[in-house]
Amino acid sequence: MSKRKTPFDYIVHSVKEEGYLPVELIDRLPRHWRRVGTVGIIELHSSLLPWRKQIGQSYLAGLSELTTVMQKVGVTTAKIRTPGFEILAGDNNTVTLHKELGCKFWLDALKLTFSTGNHAERQRLIEITTEGEHIIDMFACVGNLSLPIGVHHPTVHIKGIEINPYAYSFLEKNIQINHLEARYKPILGDNKNKTPKNWADRVLMGYFDISSKQLEIALQALKQDQGGVIHTHGITTEKQPSSCREAINQLINNKFPHFQIESTNQRIIKSIAPGVNHYVDDICINHTDSA
Ligand SMILES: C[S@@+](CC[C@H](N)C(=O)[O-])C[C@H]1O[C@@H](n2cnc3c(N)ncnc32)[C@H](O)[C@@H]1O
Repeated sequence: MSKRKTPFDYIVHSVKEEGYLPVELIDRLPRHWRRVGTVGIIELHSSLLPWRKQIGQSYLAGLSELTTVMQKVGVTTAKIRTPGFEILAGDNNTVTLHKELGCKFWLDALKLTFSTGNHAERQRLIEITTEGEHIIDMFACVGNLSLPIGVHHPTVHIKGIEINPYAYSFLEKNIQINHLEARYKPILGDNKNKTPKNWADRVLMGYFDISSKQLEIALQALKQDQGGVIHTHGITTEKQPSSCREAINQLINNKFPHFQIESTNQRIIKSIAPGVNHYVDDICINHTDSA
């Protein structure tokens, strides 16, 4: 019995039929792509770039669920984390509805960060959260990490802070369409001066350039008579195994004598490049009296 053809087989077939790509490059066509709503994201080998628009058309034609195909052209930049993408084929309107973990996320896949590689972390946060928790998402974007927690835990309360008005407009919309208005408060502005104090059991810091000031604000956000968990994200390379744990330890020693680190746990979320990983540290902090 012949093997069932995959969408990739059809894409390769149509590229060969159309004949625009030198045959020796066919093997370099990407076998995998990411999908955010109806927007497909491919990464192309540099040798394929002269034909990128035609390749984009071939993927668009072969993947019927897509309305746009983009390629990754660089790293996510600037404070508001604009991802580096180029539209190759399809609709220039990249506002799309992404469904994951029983949640609906409206977002602009061209202009805002939504990493499908963080799926397991979103799932894990749902699993480790307990009912009744108060959660602050200091880098909320469109609700990437915190919306699923609210959807899966009916007694959790969340405050999400987002500095980019465009991302914030989607956060507001997503809170509505996931029916979280009563339990998710969106806050527009800079987390350095908008983060509530003495309220949270858990603080999410899904951002790679966390400053010491922001770590201090996360410590202030925790319930001061109990403590809680701070999740810091970062990038490690073999040369730079950086981590926010030590910075939090120093802040506790200098400014939060009523706190102590109870435990820490680091896990890799995804590989970004060979030897370069996106990791999260779970830093559990308790009140010294509870020791
Ligand atoms: C890389 S995205 C990550 C979104 C999400 N936390 C995740 O991990 O998938 C970071 C978001 O934080 C926002 N941001 C950056 N600096 C901020 C600040 N000082 N206050 C509030 N939001 C900020 C950016 O606009 C962006 O939407």
